[in-house]
Amino acid sequence: MDEAPMMEPFRAKVVEPIPFTTRAQREQALRRAHHNLFNLRADEVTIDLLTDSGTGALSAAQMAAAMLGDESYAGARSFHRFRDVVGNLTSYPHVLPVHQGRAAERILFSALLRPGLITLGNTHFDTTRANVELVGGRALDLPCPEAADLDSPHPFKGDIDLEALHRALTGPDAPRVAAVVMTLTSNGMGGQPVSMANLTETARLCRAHGVPLFLDAARFAENAWLVTRNEPGYRNRSPREVAEEAFRLADGCTASMKKDGLVNTGGFLGLRDPDLAQRCELLLVATEGFPTYGGLAGRDLDMLAQGLLEVTDPDYLRARAGATAYLAQLARAAGVAVVEPPGVHAVYLDAGRLLPHIPPHRFPGHALTCALYLEGGVRGVECGSLYLGKEDAHGNPVVSAPWELVRLAIPRRVYSQSHLEHVGRTLARIARHADRLPGYRITAQAPLLRHFRSELAPVPLHEDEHRSTAVTTTPSPEPHPPVAVPPRGALAAHL
Ligand code: F0G
Repeated sequence: MDEAPMMEPFRAKVVEPIPFTTRAQREQALRRAHHNLFNLRADEVTIDLLTDSGTGALSAAQMAAAMLGDESYAGARSFHRFRDVVGNLTSYPHVLPVHQGRAAERILFSALLRPGLITLGNTHFDTTRANVELVGGRALDLPCPEAADLDSPHPFKGDIDLEALHRALTGPDAPRVAAVVMTLTSNGMGGQPVSMANLTETARLCRAHGVPLFLDAARFAENAWLVTRNEPGYRNRSPREVAEEAFRLADGCTASMKKDGLVNTGGFLGLRDPDLAQRCELLLVATEGFPTYGGLAGRDLDMLAQGLLEVTDPDYLRARAGATAYLAQLARAAGVAVVEPPGVHAVYLDAGRLLPHIPPHRFPGHALTCALYLEGGVRGVECGSLYLGKEDAHGNPVVSAPWELVRLAIPRRVYSQSHLEHVGRTLARIARHADRLPGYRITAQAPLLRHFRSELAPVPLHEDEHRSTAVTTTPSPEPHPPVAVPPRGALAAHL
């Protein structure tokens, strides 16, 4: 079906209504939410692109599998089915189910790290970094140089910088490197994939220096798909074969199955090392559940096992990647630049470029997410200075994000072409009067992870004494010009 790259290899059997709201209703809802889209009720949102995590649709076969779920506390049939499917895919002999990806991260890093130890990675996802730091470790990102250029069409901007990795594995801190973590695809870097050449060389370096290599496999199938499309030597391979090879290269993985497991909740930790597996199993029993259910219901394990069989279907992956490419195309046509090339799980809009009149401390990404909601009932997530920046007590910028982005993540098997076209039309309407969009100021700040809970208010253009033209290109009028933080995890989803 090459002539119809977006045509889904499924039809709908069960549907869920989505609300159509008026502009007045959306204005009222946004005011009530203190201009923070996390505070909206989901039934006030028409197209919800906040995340692709746990938001996908189940297949008929998964629903049928749920009915076979065995809810025995220990040794359930569901666990054995799940373990066989994961074992066949990954080749890892030890498979520990968990309720979601970050639980696998917490267990692995609690068992592996102690204060002062380091993990290296292409770009750690937020929760991965948090779980490394919670046990006193340090997570260092070594993204390849192309990743810093949002416009570069380089097909594998999720690669790790191999020279930097080599330096880190041979330099003065080498004895403190406890693991390398490769995130497939790199959510912290715009959903960009990792090439098999890069992963193979990373594995070789890790082996040579006696450091274990782990995959963060949340989007392993989407990574494999992009490898079969764009990497020489892999064009005749199936996504399943590529995925199996990727897992084989590593010593284990943490995996949120809310993405490429095609389930609403679930995850697993896969390991080769029996001693490490035993230490992890103790933590699993104490914090998640008995090793044959790990915080999941038997029916969850069965749905997950079935999801893992479905997710590497080339027709499914082609349609999904086609939908993302189509949304990126609609954004470009509307005059909104996106992080290039678009990956599979999300399109990242360049709000900084669209709204040069809004300085970072007035949150251009946030302004665009509010406009998307007000204009079309679309919910995305800010990945810019609201998330990564800092201001002083007077609201003057101290640190800004390197880019002001908005992530539109696409739930799996949920939205149709007409839904994406609604997002495209909404963007086009916004872009036509982009210079009139207001910035925002924080009125109540949350002490931690402020983007979740902070309250904001629009700053009408004529009232904003801080108004400047493109802060990156024009000298800032601020007493404290914003300092860009390094591009570490800047494109992450921070959920
Ligand atoms: N690793 C990656 C690459 C992720 O994107 C996520 C979650 C996790 C680990 C943690 O998994 O949510 O199951 O505990 N990402 C979501 C997102 C939240 O919206 O991108 P989890």
